[in-house]
Amino acid sequence: MIAMPEEFAQSTVAREGKTGAAWLAELPGIVDELLGRWECEPNGEVMHGGVGVIVPVQRRAGESAVLKVSFPHPGNVHEPDAFVAWRGCGAVLLHDRDDERFAMLLERVQPSTLAEVENGDEVVTVAGRLNHRLAIPAPRGLPRLRDQAGAWEERLRKDAEELPHALPRQVLDAAVATVRELGRVQPDTLVHGDLHARNILRASREPWLAVDPKGYVGDPAYDGGTLLKSRALTLLEADDLHKAAHRILDVFAEATELDRERVQRWAQFHAVKAAFGGRRHGFRIARSGPQLDWLTEFVDRLAELLTERS
Ligand SMILES: Nc1ncnc2c1ncn2[C@@H]1O[C@H](COP(=O)(O)OP(=O)(O)O)[C@@H](O)[C@H]1O
Ligand SMILES: [Mg+2]
Repeated sequence: MIAMPEEFAQSTVAREGKTGAAWLAELPGIVDELLGRWECEPNGEVMHGGVGVIVPVQRRAGESAVLKVSFPHPGNVHEPDAFVAWRGCGAVLLHDRDDERFAMLLERVQPSTLAEVENGDEVVTVAGRLNHRLAIPAPRGLPRLRDQAGAWEERLRKDAEELPHALPRQVLDAAVATVRELGRVQPDTLVHGDLHARNILRASREPWLAVDPKGYVGDPAYDGGTLLKSRALTLLEADDLHKAAHRILDVFAEATELDRERVQRWAQFHAVKAAFGGRRHGFRIARSGPQLDWLTEFVDRLAELLTERS
């Protein structure tokens, strides 16, 4: 039986508690069963992300692939549907799926991710071009971002009321206006939904391919905010935060051929959402203490500077 990475086991139990531990106990058996059914042999070190294990395998015909098994969570349901729709254009190919097991057999590319590229403009350009490529007409049945607009607005209102914060009125109003004006009417376009550098892998049939999509339907500019948020660590080191954040939006909007203001408005919304989310649950890189306070203040600043029209 294949051993699962210790770090993955620990983070799953920390996040999911007993349900996570029970799933982890079953996981080696699930992997074995799928390897047998899909006629694959494991042939490399098991990798993982936040929610899934990735087992490098060789298929009977000799082709290499990876088996991904994700923690059973509603957020991971539509990943294979997005891969089916893209048919390998801009994303890895889906060879097989077992939806009950939250498992997929995927084309294997290199384990190296876009996060390893140091040049910030290059990272954002690659992500922006991929965002453009992935923005195809959405298949039926995927979750629509516009259906979340009501809940987003309600959440913003509640958070602003219930949580102590120092966000100026116009910052909150701008986020609510984005939800009302851009959130409620959105195109029927497939949106990756979690487009960041660790979900973009080096490949050979195309230089970079996406993995790990949420598979939403909506405005492709939404993922400009996902990307900006994922650049937070880089932004923390910037001498001039205003300039660095706007540079990311400039480069992204150009690469993805989207309206610059639209990208900024979604990014502002994501930042305000994150500012409240951090206050409620902490951030992945800082759950409590002075580091959390400092990071929260940083996200507030980001939300505020994105509120000004450039
Ligand atoms: N198709 C693939 N080929 C090669 N490596 C992969 C593949 N898919 C994922 N990986 C590796 O596993 C990591 C986590 O995969 P990902 O699908 O993002 O999992 P999670 O949903 O847990 O974030 C990636 O960053 C990459 O290093
Ligand atoms: Mg991932």
